[in-house]
Amino acid sequence: MPALEAILLVGGQGTRLRPLTLGTPKPLLPTAGVPFLAHQLARARSYGVRRIVFATSYKASMFEPVFGDGSAFGLTLDYMTEETPLGTGGAIRNAAEALTCAPGDPVLILNGDILSGHDIGAQIRTHQRGSAAVTLHLTEVDDPSRFGCVPTDDEGRVTAFLEKTPNPVTNRINAGCYVFTRSVIDSIPQGEVVSVERQTFPGLIEAGEPVLGYADRTYWLDVGTPAAFVQGSRDLVLGRLESPALPGPTGEYLALDGARVSPEAKVHGGSTVGARAVVEAGASVTGSVLSDDCVIHAGATITDSVVGRGARVCAGAVVCDAVVGDGAVVGAGNELQAGVRVWPGIELPECAVRYSSDV
Ligand code: GTP
Repeated sequence: MPALEAILLVGGQGTRLRPLTLGTPKPLLPTAGVPFLAHQLARARSYGVRRIVFATSYKASMFEPVFGDGSAFGLTLDYMTEETPLGTGGAIRNAAEALTCAPGDPVLILNGDILSGHDIGAQIRTHQRGSAAVTLHLTEVDDPSRFGCVPTDDEGRVTAFLEKTPNPVTNRINAGCYVFTRSVIDSIPQGEVVSVERQTFPGLIEAGEPVLGYADRTYWLDVGTPAAFVQGSRDLVLGRLESPALPGPTGEYLALDGARVSPEAKVHGGSTVGARAVVEAGASVTGSVLSDDCVIHAGATITDSVVGRGARVCAGAVVCDAVVGDGAVVGAGNELQAGVRVWPGIELPECAVRYSSDV
């Protein structure tokens, strides 16, 4: 059997993560010290994947300079770009042109914005044992009303794909990792906009094809929002999710090359301090992502937030549950809270203003 092949969906615009995704696509955002995708590549490889096709669209040209031919990751990488975005199904169909496996072989498909600790090998075995068309990873969440849910029958067959509802029939949701039988990918119409969630999966179920669920409750996170992105980075640094790609030991914080953290600063809670970033005396940084070359001045407090490349947070400012865009400056005394985003390059003058909407 040829080595397992995978398709990684990385063409989305990442609108919920703006302004972080204005200059960098979501899958390339530095997460626990490396591009987000590095964690997924390392995990896929640990389950026997040797060849991955990137399905790119938004900022497509930025991927190859980072990952090249994949040899640095022990992988062979290919890049298939959609001129206009084709949606998840159309992207999978387009990328499949670069696959080399046979029609009956399994192909792993990964959304490029998921951190998951699930056993990919067990998901593939479920697929093969059940001779399935598609096997979906399903994760169990405490509040399924925020997602569409995916009920299964006693044999693990998916019975429906249900839209968001206040009274979901199950707490199992689509976790964004699929095993497809190659021939099923080839039956998706070529060059058309297709959604696997809204069209392909419901269509297969309707046609009576075997669509299986592989359900578990291991670590799972969709890093699509700023709060979730910060949480993912924090969990990797703290070791709540093991990643072979983490560029240092797990612990209270990860400092990249040239980072300078004053012995009188407090940095903890799984924070990352980017390359050449500075944290001055008396500053406090908790569970946050500090990007390369940013400066946190004396006495500033950063909690559960992202501070962009080259940004500055001045003395005594408070940044909580917020995003400070690349090159932005938060003047002394200001307070950012509750999901506020400061756009790249904006300078908030020194002033005691409490911001609770975007600037
Ligand atoms: P939001 O705009 O914030 O919703 O994020 P997104 O653009 O990433 O969309 P979503 O989270 O729904 O996408 C799920 C996965 O599919 C992500 O890994 C996206 O990169 C990917 N994706 C979504 N649409 C497309 C597409 O048209 N083409 C390709 N190649 N990938 C896509």
